[in-house]
Amino acid sequence: MRRKLVVGNWKLNGSLAANAALVAAFRQRFLPATGAVCGVCVPAVYLAQAAELLANTGIEPGAQDLSREVRGAFTGEVSAAMLADVGAKLCIVGHSERRALFGDTDEQVAVKFGRAKAAGLTPILCVGETLAEREAGVTDAVVIRQLDAVLAPHGRAALENAVVAYEPVWAIGTGKTATSEQAQSVHAVIRARLAKVDAGLAAEMPILYGGSVKAANAAELFAMPDVDGGLVGGASLDAQEFVGIWNAMRARLN
Ligand code: 13P
Repeated sequence: MRRKLVVGNWKLNGSLAANAALVAAFRQRFLPATGAVCGVCVPAVYLAQAAELLANTGIEPGAQDLSREVRGAFTGEVSAAMLADVGAKLCIVGHSERRALFGDTDEQVAVKFGRAKAAGLTPILCVGETLAEREAGVTDAVVIRQLDAVLAPHGRAALENAVVAYEPVWAIGTGKTATSEQAQSVHAVIRARLAKVDAGLAAEMPILYGGSVKAANAAELFAMPDVDGGLVGGASLDAQEFVGIWNAMRARLN
């Protein structure tokens, strides 16, 4: 069966003390589930702390971004190998905030995707349309363009040990969740595009939904046939909410 995942994205939040309190509150309530992975993508400086706090829990630490470069004179950058070295297992690639606010292009996202894989990290490739693009009726075309930018250089290898996250930009941090039907429709487009490269691997690819996922809407989203879990921003900073989302996934597996 396809792997399911619920992954938190803390974004630019946290401190040593706040992280320890959040993980402790989460661990108190968290029960693992066969067939599903729970992860948290933390600011790079807190990865080593997260790896230690999450040791032996089955919860995977992850990074939120990585450098396109491998080593050398690139002041301020953090490479994929460094992230793996301090305990990251997952790495978000091409989040819409990186694309919109920090200028990550489709081509740069493809390079980062390859760097993550080469370092043994599982990339979580984010795709998604803006409100203007949805209203212009180009949602599917945008998502396919973003996927193709990664599939073109990496081919079939892009479908191995990777995760895709559909995050409509208009649903991120806005409280506006895509309906489960809207999510399912785009997830099906993503899987169909991947199937053109390799149908077997496309059938196994976890495709997560992200954008205002909460405990209250998770079960409905996760009930969709092509929604394999969630990438969770704001609600991952609240232990009770995040466990609620995780439990919505566990309930589907039990
Ligand atoms: P919110 O859950 O806060 O809408 O953020 C979604 C997201 O961007 C996860 O990567």
